[in-house]
Amino acid sequence: MTLTACVNGRFLPLEQATVHIEDRGFQFADGVYEVVACLNGHFLDMDAHLARLERSAAAIDLLLPCPREELAGIVEETWRRNPFADAMIYIQLTRGVAPRAHLPAGELVPTLVVTSRELPSPSPEKLEHGATAITLEDFRWKRCDIKSIALLASVMGKREAARRGADEAFWLDAEGHVLEGCSTNVFAIIAGHLVTHPLDHQVLGGITRAMLIRLAREAGLEVEERPWSLDEADLTECMLTSTTNAVLPVCRVDDTPVGEGAPGPVALVLRQRMLQAMDALRETGNRNAA
Ligand SMILES: Cc1ncc(COP(=O)(O)O)c(C=O)c1O
Repeated sequence: MTLTACVNGRFLPLEQATVHIEDRGFQFADGVYEVVACLNGHFLDMDAHLARLERSAAAIDLLLPCPREELAGIVEETWRRNPFADAMIYIQLTRGVAPRAHLPAGELVPTLVVTSRELPSPSPEKLEHGATAITLEDFRWKRCDIKSIALLASVMGKREAARRGADEAFWLDAEGHVLEGCSTNVFAIIAGHLVTHPLDHQVLGGITRAMLIRLAREAGLEVEERPWSLDEADLTECMLTSTTNAVLPVCRVDDTPVGEGAPGPVALVLRQRMLQAMDALRETGNRNAA
């Protein structure tokens, strides 16, 4: 089956969708990206994703190549030209093509690439038993709030996790606080409260993170955004969030069970609430119809 990609506004068969070898994304990871979920033609928090893309771009002194509404149209059209009702749309914006030099001469034309793939979901085994994680001391840069395409540290973290048979690596700061995962935000239930690291330069402001916090408050849970660590007394559950995982319980970290070592009641309720909101969006175009 031929998939269709969009390169600088042109729709092409995926095999023919290429960018120049001197694109600065390829040579310097000089770019930013987004991943948006589409459920049966309805995009989950498109505005928030495009706003974050604009913020990430601005942080590296790039402008979006077109107004947000136009970009949303390109994203929708890319979804429409591909065969996946539930899709993850990848949007990448780089500074453009120029002879290789850290500081390119003159104004460049940014490169915009959009693809649509089937939205993955966690396997039944992972849902039943929960995900597993390892911890690594954070060796990333100090602007993790930018959704940069420079993901080498995340790739190394994920590879190390896989080597040790785990699904995710959690980055710890020098004091042992859990910051986030390689491609996820991380939460704990501590003394019945939902706890996650506050938004700063050490974490990406996940769109699913914001959704979970909102759903948790609606469910009457107390939410604390503060540094936390895995050895805190009264820590009973752990979970991660991302566009492709929604909310997923994490039941073992560094080979030690979290709480009872099985998906906990709060994580399960929150996952159910998130799936309900996603189903409502899929069916009615309004996630609040759940
Ligand atoms: C480092 C990091 N944190 C968190 C997330 C989760 O973000 P979102 O919920 O917007 O998918 C991602 C997603 O790619 C990520 O790379």
